[in-house]
Amino acid sequence: MSEQTLTPKKVHVETWGCQMNAADSEKMLAMLAERNYILTDEVESADLVLLNTCHIREKARHKVLSRLGVLKELKTLNPGMTIAVSGCVAQAEGQKLLKAAPQIDVLCGPGKIDELPRLLDEREKTGKAALAIGFKREHSEPEPVAAPPTLTGRREVSRYVNIQQGCDNYCTFCVVPYTRGREVSRLPKDIIAETKAMVASGAKEITLLGQNVNSYGSDLENSNDAFIKLLTEVAKIEGLERLRFTTSNPHDLSEGLANLFSQERKLGRYMHLPVQSGSDEILERMKRKVTRSEYLERVQWLRQAVPDIALSTDLIVGFPGETEEDFQATLSLVEEVKFSFIFCFKYSPRKHTPAARYLDQVPEDVKDERLKRLNALQNKITLEQNAGEIGRVRPVLFLYESRKMPGHYYGRTEHFRLVRVKSDTPLTGETKLVQITHSNKTALLGDLIQLQ
Ligand code: 5AD
Ligand code: SF4
Repeated sequence: MSEQTLTPKKVHVETWGCQMNAADSEKMLAMLAERNYILTDEVESADLVLLNTCHIREKARHKVLSRLGVLKELKTLNPGMTIAVSGCVAQAEGQKLLKAAPQIDVLCGPGKIDELPRLLDEREKTGKAALAIGFKREHSEPEPVAAPPTLTGRREVSRYVNIQQGCDNYCTFCVVPYTRGREVSRLPKDIIAETKAMVASGAKEITLLGQNVNSYGSDLENSNDAFIKLLTEVAKIEGLERLRFTTSNPHDLSEGLANLFSQERKLGRYMHLPVQSGSDEILERMKRKVTRSEYLERVQWLRQAVPDIALSTDLIVGFPGETEEDFQATLSLVEEVKFSFIFCFKYSPRKHTPAARYLDQVPEDVKDERLKRLNALQNKITLEQNAGEIGRVRPVLFLYESRKMPGHYYGRTEHFRLVRVKSDTPLTGETKLVQITHSNKTALLGDLIQLQ
């Protein structure tokens, strides 16, 4: 070991956006750990600050730019600080971002995270900003990715495994195909090897990640059920208790996949199925390739397989041309499906996307008002559903101990509802039966059932 590697360096990471970014941050931290970095919460004294960025909405991009402003100040007090920017803002803006923010030392797109250590070396050697952007094209990693030890000091119970990069759908509002490129599936053998390694290091729940997981494998083999085969294989891994996946696209959800929920208990009783709007006109303009009734048919398949399956969704309000009538259709869809929770967003025009060029943009105050009404409706539904859990006994996989309230543990039911329980013995990583006693909008409270 060289002398240089004896003193650990400190890395501070800030991650925005989707679970893909969370998984990428973990991978980058694992590579940095091999280079003798340790994680710090303190940005001021960090040797390396890594911003893993999101470009999905203008607000997300703005946050990154304002954070870079703060880091510029901090760097004047700590000139040894290296600033690295990864993620979709790095990919989308490249050289332009370097010009606008010369305090950046390293810029690395999501398809190039494997190159982070090399970029840091290059920066050190040349004294110039180092940059790698571009899309991932290979199905296989250069070498199998071992379970990265997460640097949080906790043994993580729930971990992410990437199965696919990019998206081929080109929904008219979405920047992802431009920042993450076309769909590239990872080979099943690499996915299984990484999952096994994670389970061996203590993970009990794995979430398979991709922008459009239902079309996983269509670039690898000429069959429609590559994703079903993958889920079936991964579910066989001993020690794995729960297997989740996200994000699904209703267009590519098959009846076969819906049926798998009734056969494979590890899949649990929950699915995230983004719909974006309840209006057929808007769905058409979004190029979602499913109608409202086709979406409802898919919900029906899932409910036939698991009658009490919990569903969540993504919705956009104020998409160009959205009338009050279109918005009412979204409200009525939410009433009809009774999602357990929703993520709703105000439409944000993104460069290069067709919808940004549509002429009938919706005024900001109308978007605000619709977002409020939609949230109010969903809050009512979520509260009702959570109250309906009181008195029930549910198996809960415990994920972590509360930081604010030591001795209190958080876990999730098969329906993905968050549950908090007080316990004298550690529960993290355990699955226990819990009787639900209280509920609010965000969580359930309960007591452990003592088995004799
Ligand atoms: N404006 C608002 N929301 C968006 N999303 C994607 N692009 C936009 C946009 N331009 C939302 C969609 C998607 C989620 C990840 O982000 O609902 O499902
Ligand atoms: Fe974006 Fe549509 Fe692809 Fe989802 S399916 S990442 S919304 S283009």
